[in-house]
Amino acid sequence: MNKDYVGWGVVGCGVISPWHIENVKKTPGAKMVAVCDILEDKAKEKAEMAGGCDYYLDFEEMLKREDLDVVSICTPSSMHPDMAVLAAKYGKHVLTEKPMATTLAKADEMINACKNAGVKLACIFQRRMTEPFISIKKAVDSGEIGKLALADMYAKYYRSQAYYDSAGWRGTWEFDGGGALMNQGIHMIDMLQWLVGDVDEIYAICRTQVHKIEVEDTAIATIKFKNGTVGVIEGTTSVYPDVPHRLELHGDKGTIMLSGEGISKWSVIGPDGQPLDKLTSGVGVNQALTNPTDISMEGHGIIIADLVNCVNTGKEPIVPGTEGRKALEIILAIYESSKTGKPVKLPLKS
Ligand SMILES: NC(=O)c1ccc[n+]([C@@H]2O[C@H](COP(=O)([O-])OP(=O)(O)OC[C@H]3O[C@@H](n4cnc5c(N)ncnc54)[C@H](O)[C@@H]3O)[C@@H](O)[C@H]2O)c1
Repeated sequence: MNKDYVGWGVVGCGVISPWHIENVKKTPGAKMVAVCDILEDKAKEKAEMAGGCDYYLDFEEMLKREDLDVVSICTPSSMHPDMAVLAAKYGKHVLTEKPMATTLAKADEMINACKNAGVKLACIFQRRMTEPFISIKKAVDSGEIGKLALADMYAKYYRSQAYYDSAGWRGTWEFDGGGALMNQGIHMIDMLQWLVGDVDEIYAICRTQVHKIEVEDTAIATIKFKNGTVGVIEGTTSVYPDVPHRLELHGDKGTIMLSGEGISKWSVIGPDGQPLDKLTSGVGVNQALTNPTDISMEGHGIIIADLVNCVNTGKEPIVPGTEGRKALEIILAIYESSKTGKPVKLPLKS
């Protein structure tokens, strides 16, 4: 690079794009140089948000810019892979929103294209970057709660029919790639596998209970991890009012439970053999994420700052494509199990 900043572009100027634009503006060594959307008013609005950068209505035209180094892909989910492959062809690094793809074949295509072009592929899973998830990860990895026996995840959200009707791609197999799990529950499914490890087998039932959409709005699954831990996944966008998502980890030396974005229980065996309550603060406990935009800015900011460093140093991103792929594979296994009525073993064929 013959310039002293990493030039950033954002494609898809919808709901999530400000999390990219505002964070790039705040990140030392990064600069917004362009945005793109097929809808001119959206592109124009986000170009202003970006500080008056150029805007494009055609993605490939934006990719021709020499001062563009990284592209944030914020378009409907199934569009991410082809856009990533095109960006790689132009030698641009990629930051993709979740899910990185809606099929494993497409996820692999983008991983390989970026690898072969020598560009970075980073994925958004913002909760991996922030508390209390970082502390929970350290506790589980250090054996603080012992051998895990049960690991459960509940993502019981509410989305109105108006939400699904607000953009033509929402709730469709073709563009959303799934529903309550592929779009909303994916974050907590990623947390579950990040904390517990690789999945061995899944048995699931998915249903479309209350919305006029093609994809599931309610799903339940039992899950067996490779390390022997078992648990359940429940994900929905059908229940009113939505309740804070929960993650519950139980080992033979302790229990950690998360409610919303806060810890609700952290208890381990104390020196006297009695339960020791390690919960000192209830801040953040029981926050329900009522709106799709109830997302902290912090996680995206850390991933963006990390990617700037990766571009400058050659290091691998904090959430590379191979990590972004894991929750996708679990969700696709859930869909397959529900469709066939049978347990499904991982890894899946891509
Ligand atoms: N990380 C998170 O917590 C989080 C939150 C919300 C959304 N997302 C993800 O972000 C992605 C976008 O979601 P959203 O809610 O912002 O959607 P949105 O519908 O609000 O925005 C998508 C934008 O892409 C534009 N677009 C469509 N085709 C295009 C093309 N060919 N070229 C350029 N622009 C095009 C649309 O006009 C629209 O403005 C999805 O994959 C979603 O899963 C992630």
